[in-house]
Amino acid sequence: MTDPVAQPADVPPEPPSAGPAASLAPCAALLGGVPEPVLLVGADRRIRIANPAAHELLGARLEGQSALLAIRQPDPIAALERAIQAAPGTRFEARYSLTTPSAETTYRMVAHRLAPTGGLEGVLVSFLDISHVEEAEQMRRDFIANVSHELRSPLTVLSGFIETLQGSARDDPEARARFLEIMAQEARRMNRLVGDLLSLSKVEANERVRPRESVCMADVIQTSLAALRPQIEENGIRVTLTGAEDDTRLQGDRDQLVQVVHNLVENAIKYGGAGGTVRLALARRASWPGFFGEVLTLSVSDEGEGIDPIHLPRLTERFYRVDSHRSRQMGGTGLGLAIVKHIVNRHRGRLSIESERGRGSTFLMVLPRN
Ligand SMILES: Nc1ncnc2c1ncn2[C@@H]1O[C@H](COP(=O)(O)OP(=O)(O)OP(=O)(O)O)[C@@H](O)[C@H]1O
Ligand SMILES: [Mg+2]
Repeated sequence: MTDPVAQPADVPPEPPSAGPAASLAPCAALLGGVPEPVLLVGADRRIRIANPAAHELLGARLEGQSALLAIRQPDPIAALERAIQAAPGTRFEARYSLTTPSAETTYRMVAHRLAPTGGLEGVLVSFLDISHVEEAEQMRRDFIANVSHELRSPLTVLSGFIETLQGSARDDPEARARFLEIMAQEARRMNRLVGDLLSLSKVEANERVRPRESVCMADVIQTSLAALRPQIEENGIRVTLTGAEDDTRLQGDRDQLVQVVHNLVENAIKYGGAGGTVRLALARRASWPGFFGEVLTLSVSDEGEGIDPIHLPRLTERFYRVDSHRSRQMGGTGLGLAIVKHIVNRHRGRLSIESERGRGSTFLMVLPRN
């Protein structure tokens, strides 16, 4: 099939005019109020009306031009051609995509053959930006693939050991004890994964609802540290906290903030290295760029090996891990920072990460006080 873009010859040349014909003016005024790009194309394939959004999408001086030249993509042009030949009231759809160096935008283009009324005829071509819908769909597919993958590895281990216990290791009490211990560990990991997934979905479900409790951050930190005490002692970690004596109250959700501090400090312990120091600093600030009113900042710093800058932008994505093998070995699910991000968003706060290889990492959270 020949590319219709290459054949604009069947459109007789006509000097492009500055705007739509006078009889079309009311219709043009109407379409001017539509935020989506819309074109009215005549049976001769010329553009009769282009609203401002269409000019933004396809360029200036469209009226009088060939629609085939303005659209320039085979599928949308084919849809337009079919609409021109079709019975009034019929519509055809195609995907129209636009790639710029920074982003790809996908539109659903609809070519609707109008029933001739009051001198108005032709095909109404509209463009609806569906990029975010497609993006959400892609994220959903990735998420399901990731969850399945994460569940599959412990399940494979479990079925492997069950088979061994039913077969060769049936009468070996020593091996049995060892295998059962590994199986228990894998079961715990699956349990943690499901728990983290549930808490992520719970946080996401009420992300738009601002929390209303008055919460003391210093108290939240003490609660989180108490729960992490065994890990802190086991790894010989020194934890320091400054700024807790101030008034550190803010409007928040206590349980969620405990989870945030828990996840950040747990990471600092895990990735900061045994025997190191984890520093927590709370501070009240009268203002902060991008915030109205007073904020509370909490930084959690470790002395670990740090994070390469290329990983920083993706660190809060679900299941994103710098070293997945190592994280899994430590029982990590890769959901900790994704949960943190959603909770911070719900509190209308901001999380930033600073790190340099070999110099440790600092996770800074800024939360509005109310
Ligand atoms: N303080 C830190 N120092 C170095 N790397 C870190 C630090 N915190 C997080 N990371 C990196 O970010 C990744 C994602 O962290 P996240 O907390 O989301 O997952 P995880 O710790 O692997 O698993 P989980 O939190 O579920 O136990 C980690 O796997 C690790 O590679
Ligand atoms: Mg973690």
